[in-house]
Amino acid sequence: MTATITWYGHATLGLETGGYKILIDPFFSGNPAASISAEAAQADFILVSHGHSDHVGDAIAIAKRTGATVISNYEIAGWFDKQGVEKTHGQQHGGGFKHPFGYLKLTLAFHGSALPDGSNGGNPCGFLLTTDDGKKLYFAQDTGLFGDMKLIGEEGLDLAVLPIGDNFTMGPDDALRAVKFLEAKTVIPIHYNTWGLIAQDAGAWAKRVEAETKSKAVILKPGGSIAL
Ligand code: NI
Ligand code: MN
Repeated sequence: MTATITWYGHATLGLETGGYKILIDPFFSGNPAASISAEAAQADFILVSHGHSDHVGDAIAIAKRTGATVISNYEIAGWFDKQGVEKTHGQQHGGGFKHPFGYLKLTLAFHGSALPDGSNGGNPCGFLLTTDDGKKLYFAQDTGLFGDMKLIGEEGLDLAVLPIGDNFTMGPDDALRAVKFLEAKTVIPIHYNTWGLIAQDAGAWAKRVEAETKSKAVILKPGGSIAL
């Protein structure tokens, strides 16, 4: 088994691969959809896609408690340094690095990235992870649709995690177009139903994905996992 992916609600994900625990955008406190508390979260690495408070979330507290390394863009990694987080790793878009859990590349995302205190959070990103046994996992996190998703799809994706909530990110129609660009074997929707503003019918979206594409859509409940 290459990787287990858990959706904790909103855009918060857990990934276990190669014996490491990775948290992505760990927003538990104040997240009405969160399936566990920040205190229960475990991590060796924490990936932060952009500066917004629903993505930075509890990352500082979890990093300080667990000793996890925070990985983000260079500006956000520097901001975590200033918050007293001991281990950070800054990258930039298009740049990859071989971490212990796999080769991680930051991808384009079409969004904002101001940090909770108004600091410059650089540019928002998604994550493309190649696991040690060659599986390719794409976590789009917060983004609108962009044509260069076709380039990400050329990597040959096993999994794409996509927002469908609309208003702040792609909605269901554009997320369906994204699935067609990405051609991932499996797709998982996120960033919906946290609040009424981003309420969506994920089951209806999954039916459209399976009718119009070759991708398999997996709808997780908060706390639910899939193994690849
Ligand atoms: Ni955001
Ligand atoms: Mn968000």
